[in-house]
Amino acid sequence: MNNTFKAVQVTEDVWWVGAIDWNIRDFHGYRTGRGSTYNAYLVLADKITLIDTVKAPFREEMMERIASVVDPGKIEYIVSNHSEMDHSGSLPQVIAAVNPKKVFASVVGAKTLAELFPNPGEITPVMDGETFSLGNRTLTFLETRMLHWPDSMFTYLNEEQLLFSQDAFGMHYASLERFADGCDPAALAYEAATYYANILLPYSPQVLKLIEKVKSAKLSFKIIAPDHGPIWRKETDGILGRYARWAAQKPEGRAVVVYATMWHSTERMARAVSEGLAAGGLRVKVMSMDEVHRSDVMYELLCAGAVAVGSPTLNNHMLPNMADILTYMRGLKPRNMIAAAFGSYGWSGEAVREIEEVLTEMKLEKTGEGIRVKNVPDAEALSRCYDLGKDMAGQALSRL
Ligand code: FEO
Repeated sequence: MNNTFKAVQVTEDVWWVGAIDWNIRDFHGYRTGRGSTYNAYLVLADKITLIDTVKAPFREEMMERIASVVDPGKIEYIVSNHSEMDHSGSLPQVIAAVNPKKVFASVVGAKTLAELFPNPGEITPVMDGETFSLGNRTLTFLETRMLHWPDSMFTYLNEEQLLFSQDAFGMHYASLERFADGCDPAALAYEAATYYANILLPYSPQVLKLIEKVKSAKLSFKIIAPDHGPIWRKETDGILGRYARWAAQKPEGRAVVVYATMWHSTERMARAVSEGLAAGGLRVKVMSMDEVHRSDVMYELLCAGAVAVGSPTLNNHMLPNMADILTYMRGLKPRNMIAAAFGSYGWSGEAVREIEEVLTEMKLEKTGEGIRVKNVPDAEALSRCYDLGKDMAGQALSRL
């Protein structure tokens, strides 16, 4: 072990001891253009406690940061807030190295860790609302099932009003700045929204319930310490408010046109639809799946009021890159959008119907029939696309 990686002080008793992954660019299908961090925290209370661990290849970095402030052998407890491998991958090795008195996880977390690892050691399940004394400090465990795994929980450090929030309120953002107030606000706003849209969006009902639970318990947070990205120590209400807005999925005056194309016919239709959407009063983003990543589409769809989806037909189906984004989108469950399909075809033209089926399955409100155009759209066809966009805008604006 060298002496390069240091812990970063968060409060008098809490230190960040995580790892920085500058190079990760794919997180199960989500493009992480700025890399990420795996945050772990050391509570230097009477009973020294480690909150979460890091992805397996980063264990040495975490252990070195821990050793910069305390002998790792003095850790008495480990809390696993979330058993996904970016936080638990090194847990069995850390348990073996540290030999803690207890390892805590939620009831589901204890089972999940036993399923993920051949020999994780004994995990002590904790209940929602249960507290545990570290001597001069107290932990409260808060179950946050399905945020975003069944095992997920938060740990609250009562005396510091500090919330260890695992994935929630985090973002994929590699940096040496540990606090949000030291980072570029525009980059944080983009990455926090992208993270929500690509990971937490399907669990928006649970986010809303959690926010209510926090309000009714009158919990306040001076610091929110997530498992990815920077720590919020100022204006924690800001990120909480953004989560409330995103979870409500209240549509805004924006539209997304997402399409795939072979010989530019569907692209011409996409551009005509976009002109109609804009003429109808929406701000429009046009996204070719040949040029953008699915994660970027999800960012744009977060709280959009309308989406138009276009693909030509290839071998009786939509183009593969359109199937990619629709599969991804369907799983992430964006809601409250007006939707429509369009596309060109050469001889059979099933893609538009296929897209419409997915939009229906996604419970989006479709506008009329999808527009199908044989071979190349003429002026009349483009005019229909324009009118479709304008109709969509009218309907979307009437719902704001
Ligand atoms: Fe960062 Fe769900 O793991």
